[in-house]
Amino acid sequence: HTIENGQFEWSAPSNIALVKYWGKRDDLGHQIPANPSVSFTLNNCKTITKLSFEKRAASIVTTGFSFDLLFEGQSKEDFKPKIQKFLERIEAYLPFLKDYHFTIDTKNTFPHSSGIASSASGMAALAMNFMSLEKQLNPAMSDDYFYQKASFLARLGSGSACRSIKGNMVVWGNQANIEGSSDLFGVPFPYTIHDNFKNYQDTILLVDKGEKQVSSTVGHNLMHNHPFAERRFEQAHENLDKLISIFEKGNLDEFIKIVESEALTLHAMMMTSMPYFILMKPNTLQIINAIWKFRAENQIPVCFTLDAGANVHVLYPENIKEKVLHFIQNELVDFCQNAQYICDEIGMGAVAL
Ligand code: PMV
Repeated sequence: HTIENGQFEWSAPSNIALVKYWGKRDDLGHQIPANPSVSFTLNNCKTITKLSFEKRAASIVTTGFSFDLLFEGQSKEDFKPKIQKFLERIEAYLPFLKDYHFTIDTKNTFPHSSGIASSASGMAALAMNFMSLEKQLNPAMSDDYFYQKASFLARLGSGSACRSIKGNMVVWGNQANIEGSSDLFGVPFPYTIHDNFKNYQDTILLVDKGEKQVSSTVGHNLMHNHPFAERRFEQAHENLDKLISIFEKGNLDEFIKIVESEALTLHAMMMTSMPYFILMKPNTLQIINAIWKFRAENQIPVCFTLDAGANVHVLYPENIKEKVLHFIQNELVDFCQNAQYICDEIGMGAVAL
């Protein structure tokens, strides 16, 4: 098959890890996680990426990759090195990349510089588009292969991006008792998920919208020679193992213990690395304490998780949505920058537009 030109468009969501990926096994190749992770795929925080492509003249295809990058319709030079590096990493798996000139036109549904990482949704959306082109060149490919390879490619852009291809809960990383799990791509959680987790809510409180203080590349590297690394990696396996029966039984009290402990452990790893960092802000702690007080006083299963930053993800079942949103509006928005927060919920993954 030869294809001269065309266009695809995909949306891919962000995801929020319950068991956190923090640390890579660089001895095993690119973007191999030091421990398995599991995440909720989100629904509203998405990147939408249009990929236009045009065959280049045979005489110039040896000159490297050729692409333009538009962010919200404007040319965006400072994102180009990241895409260049991504293309270099995936070329071995998509040998046609240098045959085309690409225009990558991308936007997010969430405010930029909200402190919400767009790398997971962005790399996932781009990987889906490149897979669409590969499928057009090789129409016989199965759906399973299509989505698995998309996750594999997204991983090479940003590790956690491999968990943004499918919904509604994705495992990435080898875990002996999770069938089909792999360090190379994310797989939908293969066991029973109790109805308590149906339409699970994630309200993201924007505490600090500034630039990330520690890039995730630097962050993962801090786990090399970290005094607690080996124990932490074992703990991630143990927590993922416990979650299997928690998801089956719908035990929200146990769920909360693991999810909050994972978030605090992620930050504890950063506080105990060399160099060390504190990525929480005073308002992050105010929010955590307010959630604990609200939960104790109302016997309501609401909890928090954190990424590598100061923002707080408030997680809770759909049936207490009204109560929790009321609590957030009354007691937590004051701790948010410009009173901003984003309502999201568990979602089903990338979609062709
Ligand atoms: O995908 P990366 O390299 O940006 O790493 C993301 C790491 C955390 O968000 C902190 C945890 C996770 O599992 O998503």
